[in-house]
Amino acid sequence: MSVMKPGSRAGRIARRMSEIEPFHVMELLARARELEAQGRSIVHMEIGEPDFPTPEPVVRAGMRALEKGEVFYTPALGLPQLREAIAGFYRTRYGVEVPPSRIVVTTGSSAALMLTCAALVDPGDEVLLADPGYPANRHFVRVMEGVPRAMPVTAADHYQLAPAHLERGWSARTAAAIVASPSNPTGTLVPTEHLSAMAEFASDRGGALIVDEIYHGLVYEGDYTTALAFSENTFVINSFSKYFHMTGWRLGWLVAPQRYVREIDKLAQNLYLAPPTLAQHAALAAFEPETLAILEKCVREFRARRDYLVPELRKLGFEIPVMPQGAFYVYAGCAKLTRDSFAFARDLLEQAGVAITPGIDFGTNAPERHVRFAYTNSIERLKDGIARIARFLGR
Ligand SMILES: Cc1ncc(COP(=O)(O)O)c(C=O)c1O
Repeated sequence: MSVMKPGSRAGRIARRMSEIEPFHVMELLARARELEAQGRSIVHMEIGEPDFPTPEPVVRAGMRALEKGEVFYTPALGLPQLREAIAGFYRTRYGVEVPPSRIVVTTGSSAALMLTCAALVDPGDEVLLADPGYPANRHFVRVMEGVPRAMPVTAADHYQLAPAHLERGWSARTAAAIVASPSNPTGTLVPTEHLSAMAEFASDRGGALIVDEIYHGLVYEGDYTTALAFSENTFVINSFSKYFHMTGWRLGWLVAPQRYVREIDKLAQNLYLAPPTLAQHAALAAFEPETLAILEKCVREFRARRDYLVPELRKLGFEIPVMPQGAFYVYAGCAKLTRDSFAFARDLLEQAGVAITPGIDFGTNAPERHVRFAYTNSIERLKDGIARIARFLGR
């Protein structure tokens, strides 16, 4: 039997943990799965990952790598040939030259965000974030003992940080601002001129702009390019998860200013040694024309789903003041239908069998008046979902 010594810290939980929140949608998803196990049919409109399988050529490349015994660590910065391939993708897709030496392959873009925050944020440093926004970002900042500064954004800002937010929110303690374009949960883009102005603003103050481009490729209207096109001081995050349909392979990347790469290399070595080897070999096939043709077909399908869903939701009384230009989300105001989006999402699941995400997952800017719909489901299922919501609302 172990005896606890006086002053022992066994069982202690670090103070910061009280500020790390769960994803509420995971609890809804668990309940949805429970209902399905009981035989209920559920229309899933809460899941933030493509419903399409990983493209065949990528799967085949992964299987070949496994057969060849590619099961050992790679360099912490990633397989050199994959870093080259990503540089080639920037060249062909955006016409932008990025030296492979600036590209860091990571365990999903989650690790890219974590490495970036670890490299930039000192205890007490502030990081500006859009609210609503991707919830993990404030937790990455908090884990580094930084202070996330959520800036409320509205439909008038296209739910994105703009140069005016940086002018208002930037202080002597600000280390960085993070934007995601297109955004989760709103699907809206940051206009290119805002991106370049914010990159310059941050750089002039010795800080950094971090641009999460994870939903690039999934853009249905509007001009956009990578932030790498106009700034060498920006940290650009991307991933094989969304456009490439490889969520479970856990692979992403980061393009960092050259002087940070050695620092990030040290961090990656220590924090996780290397990104997953099999996934990296598989991803070498991700930029092949055959794969891109499959992916572009799916982009057309996502666009058709968006074009179906947005007008239907508006007819039901959801407010969608700006058309989401990308990703696979619709961020909808539900104030005309409920005062409590969390209870609304719960009742919709229990009574109508439709799973959606309540606003609470995305920040503290009127979350009770918003919900997020994900169109990661077929048009037939979305139609079923709309019919169920209409019945639930007594239409
Ligand atoms: C905006 C945004 N950034 C980053 C991520 C992390 O994705 P992954 O780690 O799979 O690349 C997500 C996942 O949903 C996201 O929505």
